[in-house]
Amino acid sequence: MELGEPIYVGKAKSIYKTDKEDELISLFRNDMTAFNGVKKDSFAGKGAYNAAVSAFFFDYLEKNGVKTHFIKMLDDHTMLVKKLDMIPLEVIARNVAAGSIVKKLPFKEGQILNPPVIVTDYKDDERGDPSVNDDLIVALGLVTRDELAEIKEITHKINKLLYDFFDELGLIFVDFKIEFGKCGGEIILGDEISMDSMRLWDKVTKESFDKDVYRFDKGDVMTAYAKVVEKIMNWQKENVK
Ligand code: ADP
Ligand code: CDP
Repeated sequence: MELGEPIYVGKAKSIYKTDKEDELISLFRNDMTAFNGVKKDSFAGKGAYNAAVSAFFFDYLEKNGVKTHFIKMLDDHTMLVKKLDMIPLEVIARNVAAGSIVKKLPFKEGQILNPPVIVTDYKDDERGDPSVNDDLIVALGLVTRDELAEIKEITHKINKLLYDFFDELGLIFVDFKIEFGKCGGEIILGDEISMDSMRLWDKVTKESFDKDVYRFDKGDVMTAYAKVVEKIMNWQKENVK
């Protein structure tokens, strides 16, 4: 597919204009980064895995009443999306303590967080994505207090849907990061939902099936990602007629 010059090149995706003002193309590259871009690699097929999983979840969420930017796949790693005015927030939901929360606060890795915890980071690579609370988000003018309440409500809904989905697949949905944008005054889920932006553990062995495999050299990351894709495809075969 001929896409021309991207209008934005991120750490894992490139964004292109289309001939429609209100639509964009999001190309999932094979690049993998961790620790704010300090560790970098490329894995053949990784972009297609993350695109397929994201497309599956956007569709699953739409069917469950969550508005997303997803329009359709153009090829195995290229997605047509609604153009959003992105809100520079990384909205993170946690069901189990892992990662930065264990480093920064006296939680034990694996500790259940019930009710789930939502935290917010200001999306700014140069500042290392600092954590921001509700007052700072409003003071920075990122969203209004009502919009923030809506973002959290949608995030809780997505978290519940995906927690239950992965539970059926034998996986623990430990935590994940999502991004929202606005379109015509509405808050809409954008970006991606993939193994790059979540933690997934095997229910029994607690083995990782996400980017932690790459971050901490826990094994072959593509084998881990392929396992998640396979489980989702098998679920689809049984549940989507
Ligand atoms: P990063 O910017 O963190 O390096 P990516 O490589 O994933 O991340 O780049 C994708 C970029 O596209 C992100 O900055 C994301 O906020 C933005 N984006 C995602 N969905 C949309 C959308 N529907 N409209 C406009 N921008 C989007
Ligand atoms: O990944 P790290 O331990 O540094 O940060 P975290 O705050 O523990 O991350 C929580 C969840 O959000 C994990 O699933 C991360 O993969 C995801 N995340 C992300 O996708 N992008 C970020 N910039 C930060 C976190």
